[in-house]
Amino acid sequence: MIIRPRRLRRTPAIRQMVRETALSVKDFISPIFVKHGKGQKNPIPSMPGQYQFSVDTVVKETEALWSMGIPSVILFGLPDEKDPMGSRSWAPDGIVQRAISAIKDRVPEMVIITDVCLCEYTDHGHCGVIKDNDVDNDATLELLARQAVSHAKAGADFVAPSDMMDGRVSIIRNALDDEDYKNTGILSYSVKYASAFYGPFRDAADSAPSFGDRKSYQMDPANALEALKEAELDIEEGADIIMVKPALAYLDIIRQVRDLSLVPVAAYNVSGEYAMVKAAEMKGWIDGEKVMMEMLTAMKRAGADLILTYFAKEAAYVLNHSYDDVKVSSK
Ligand code: PBG
Repeated sequence: MIIRPRRLRRTPAIRQMVRETALSVKDFISPIFVKHGKGQKNPIPSMPGQYQFSVDTVVKETEALWSMGIPSVILFGLPDEKDPMGSRSWAPDGIVQRAISAIKDRVPEMVIITDVCLCEYTDHGHCGVIKDNDVDNDATLELLARQAVSHAKAGADFVAPSDMMDGRVSIIRNALDDEDYKNTGILSYSVKYASAFYGPFRDAADSAPSFGDRKSYQMDPANALEALKEAELDIEEGADIIMVKPALAYLDIIRQVRDLSLVPVAAYNVSGEYAMVKAAEMKGWIDGEKVMMEMLTAMKRAGADLILTYFAKEAAYVLNHSYDDVKVSSK
């Protein structure tokens, strides 16, 4: 006798019945870049299909995402001015604050997450305050808390600290509670590696460090135990959702964090992962759509409950048009 696993792969309908992982539009969080101005929708060269929006056009984009069933966006701001402290990040009339209220006005149910970090707002491009040529952890915490509270005040549903300072989740939780934003959640970039996959994002958000790198605060790609420690600390400090970033080269970490965690785990399918697919597709070397669906499915299979991805809109289109599904006819 031969054991024949191929029986379960024989027809599309059988394959569909025994499929273990189902990707859903509801898993997606769409990253969005917002800038000042009017009527702007500027293409980002290293991320074909992605744009920097002004507040008026971001509202239209969000309406389109919502109508496709995508429940959530994460906002990144490009300020009009930068300084050493990143003070435009907590300004009541700052770019992210304005975008939040404009979106809430038109698409009130859209779950708005905001990236909380200083790198887009500091003139040196680091994620915190500089002292003695390094990012000063404790001096940065208070500024992150200010930024988080101002996002909450503008109507954010979740704030998402991406700076990798120690202790920031508890500082932010306390600041939100003190200001009576008890229902504003924290999606923490708990496990964030010092990765070369962020290259295109730093063009999109104009946030490359002007000196040095981020290795004294972001994690070493060789480490896995440390990922579990970071995840555990953030859960203890009060994170509602934790995140692993990047996704594609860190599927083992997503699985390990998922196995440890009692809170939802998000994966960030980052800019470099997106750009690689787009570039190879443009060269005619891969089928971009199939590779996209395969990558996203793998992230879900690895244990991601939520996926932040620049593919959100394209993948939603595919899912809404029953990609690879068996059409059931009544005849
Ligand atoms: C800000 C931030 C970065 C990304 C998300 N938030 C850049 C960085 O840490 O250098 C990267 C996202 C992407 O590459 O898609 N700290």
